[in-house]
Amino acid sequence: MEVLRDMQIQGTKVPHLVILPLPFQGHINPMLQLATLLQSKGFSITLIHTHFNSPNPSNYPNFNFEPIPDGLSDSQLWTEDPVKILYFLNDTCQAPFHDRLSRLLSDGPVTCIITDEIFYFTKAVADQLKLPRILLNTGSATYATTTASLKLLQQNGLLSITDGQPNTLIPEIPPLRIKDIPDIGTTDPDTFEQLGANVLNAMRSTLGYIMNTFDDLESTALAKIRQDIHPMPLFAVGPLCKFSPGSSNSLLTQDYSCMAWLDKQAPQTVIYVSFGSTASFDKRNVVEIAWGLANSDQPFLWVIRRGSIHGHDQVELPEGFEEKTRERGQIVNWAPQQKVLAHPSVGGFWTHNGWNSTLESICEGVPMICSPYLWDQNLNARYVSHVWRVGIQLENGFDRSEIEWAIRRLMVEIEGKDIRERVRDLKENAMHCIEKGGSSYESLDGLVDIIMSL
Ligand code: UDX
Repeated sequence: MEVLRDMQIQGTKVPHLVILPLPFQGHINPMLQLATLLQSKGFSITLIHTHFNSPNPSNYPNFNFEPIPDGLSDSQLWTEDPVKILYFLNDTCQAPFHDRLSRLLSDGPVTCIITDEIFYFTKAVADQLKLPRILLNTGSATYATTTASLKLLQQNGLLSITDGQPNTLIPEIPPLRIKDIPDIGTTDPDTFEQLGANVLNAMRSTLGYIMNTFDDLESTALAKIRQDIHPMPLFAVGPLCKFSPGSSNSLLTQDYSCMAWLDKQAPQTVIYVSFGSTASFDKRNVVEIAWGLANSDQPFLWVIRRGSIHGHDQVELPEGFEEKTRERGQIVNWAPQQKVLAHPSVGGFWTHNGWNSTLESICEGVPMICSPYLWDQNLNARYVSHVWRVGIQLENGFDRSEIEWAIRRLMVEIEGKDIRERVRDLKENAMHCIEKGGSSYESLDGLVDIIMSL
């Protein structure tokens, strides 16, 4: 770090990092947080990004932004299976990424590429241009180890479960049940297999592996990954949402009017409801959510993302809902989530348990109600409710009485008080990890050192 500062003072060219995020909100956020953190350490940053879901350059005046074409059409975005989109992007982005990087290299040196691990095509480009590459995995360490263990167990016929009931515990990977196994929700499992194999292949000969988590939260999983990927160093530098001095990375406009509404609510009374950037629901679910909130008698702030209700562009709420909740409910299209969670009025987060939302909730000491949807969310929810014990899981989808009961348990009952205490402890651990001498702080130093050694 001292070396970087000296270079800046002497006017020497500082090391130049090329950053490539995967263009989805849950992946862009941690990558831009990481880039901001590295820039605060003195690196110069070029962000190469797809046209699709491109971040807003005005939020990062000190980054150099370089767009590349991605070939995605609007119709593909609406109709295509997400796994196929990931596969497609890996194909179409390779040549433009190579060209853009070659052009950057003709202007001056590039020290290293940092890319989302799902962009496996970057290995071929980095090899051709003889550039070192570091990967960012934006999910939890437990997700990474569980998917690897499951695959091995399945391949070797060692999974002991036979009954296929959703609530059956899987003895080999406690405390997960069948229904907690990551669900990719793809119609094309073969392409998913191939995608996973390509990601794994492209991990070879990388300089390092970065994860958005912290030792106090996932020590066992992190130890296992360290062992499995050795000698490649692992840098657990999370929670990035707190570690990184942040500008907004939001792709949608965040509605700040809810902050003034929150100011008017009593401390720790509001349940914040948001299911992330990709989950979608049918009308029946929305009706149950609405009545669950209305009947709980608790103030709520509910994010209903435009387009998240199947077949409905506009939000239509059940009759009578508005009158019943006018005094204590607020609905927005998209919220400044981290700020909302940090607001003293917020006492609970009903979430889909995307990894960013889970970390953001822990970092603000806000207990959760868990309604996982897809991908890693089932597993995250199970860890929130049964390992870290900082939330309650809704086990049967969306049912108004179960919702009402979960909100009361979390916000009013004594059980909620214990959960709140545990999440506050976890928040403290997170804060220690990013302080000087903490595990994530040290990991970041290690990452900077390895880049500086190039
Ligand atoms: C996706 C996957 O669904 C998830 O399982 C995986 O872990 C990451 O990628 P997503 O649905 O985007 O995640 O959820 P999440 O990881 O929680 O990220 C959502 C981000 O959007 C958060 O950083 C959150 O702060 C932000 N957000 C959400 C807002 O800024 N405003 C909102 O109203 C809602």
